[in-house]
Amino acid sequence: MLCNINDTVRRLDLRSIIHRLESIRYSQAGTQVTLMHSFRFRSLGLKTIGVLLMTATLSTQAQSQKVVIAHRGASGYLPEHTLQAKAMAFAMGADYIEQDVVMTKDDHLIVLHDITLDRTTDVAERFPDRVRDDGRYYAIDFTLAEVRQLRASEGFDIENGEKTQGYANRFPIGESSFSVPTLSEEIELIQGMNKSTGKNVGIYPEIKGPEFHREAGKDISTAVVKMLKSYGYTSKQDKIFLQTFSFEELKIIHDEILPAQGVDLNLVQLIGDDSSYPWMFEADGMDKLSAFADGVGPEKGLVVSRDSQKANIQVSDFVTRAHAAGMQVHPYTYRLDPGQVPDYADSYEDLLEIHYFRANIDGVFTDFPDRAVEFLRNR
Ligand code: G3P
Ligand code: CA
Repeated sequence: MLCNINDTVRRLDLRSIIHRLESIRYSQAGTQVTLMHSFRFRSLGLKTIGVLLMTATLSTQAQSQKVVIAHRGASGYLPEHTLQAKAMAFAMGADYIEQDVVMTKDDHLIVLHDITLDRTTDVAERFPDRVRDDGRYYAIDFTLAEVRQLRASEGFDIENGEKTQGYANRFPIGESSFSVPTLSEEIELIQGMNKSTGKNVGIYPEIKGPEFHREAGKDISTAVVKMLKSYGYTSKQDKIFLQTFSFEELKIIHDEILPAQGVDLNLVQLIGDDSSYPWMFEADGMDKLSAFADGVGPEKGLVVSRDSQKANIQVSDFVTRAHAAGMQVHPYTYRLDPGQVPDYADSYEDLLEIHYFRANIDGVFTDFPDRAVEFLRNR
């Protein structure tokens, strides 16, 4: 194992160790060491770092702490990104709860997956004349007061004039009453539950459509970072990951926005496929990315090939390369609705076993956080 530590340390630039180490994690099997986060070791020497690494080696508590991220809340059970779905995820034991964030016309931050409102609210019925030429209703065209008039629901498509749920077995459209929360309301909910339960559940906000917002004259990332700062999220020790699909935005956040606000947060680069940023898949791609990111959130097919079969599970080198660069890996999205568990897995739990322990990922974004929490607890 010490050889693995030394190999890993050698692969990392010393300056990056001094500036970026925060914690040392071991895979469950104890075969690989992952160095991650930022750790302010500026005043410490190499000898001290070595001692810390040795200490970690001997620790029986050094097993990887695999995490569960509630994707849009407990969205398999309640409408995505509603406060009810977030409270349920909290009660289910998720380690982190995700917020997708977009901006309103009057610059309020709301928790919404799409930059449009029409898939998950009744906006088309309440504000029919506010549709754009493309047939969509953009959140950025509505004030917060208007957004508050909308009823949120499970996601749907319109087919033959009828709303059809994206996931037929989930919470029924039109039942009960849900709304679109602001980011501040959601943070206060989670922090309030942390206080009342003594837990420390993290948040995992994603900047949605950063370029779209910039084109509209809105710097959504600065607004989000300012809000996070106001709620006490200021350092890499705080339980938060800030995520985006846009590397250009990630770089702006890392190089400009965080320093300007005097904070230093864990950043995650989301990766949908290998076409958006081909350089990330080159030999030194993860090392380059790790200068800006503490973690990566790949589509799960990048970790275990969708072409896998039960007798031939094809684990890519994605996790190994990301870990070697000092980054955590949190793939998305793990669901157990009909057709959502790939054929190479026998069940949702088998899928988790393959990804958490054969592919050695560090966490999952899942719509069913209870099942992932239970899986890890029982393993
Ligand atoms: O942010 C991780 C995952 O949520 C990315 O996919 O489209 O659900 O935001 P999406
Ligand atoms: Ca997301």
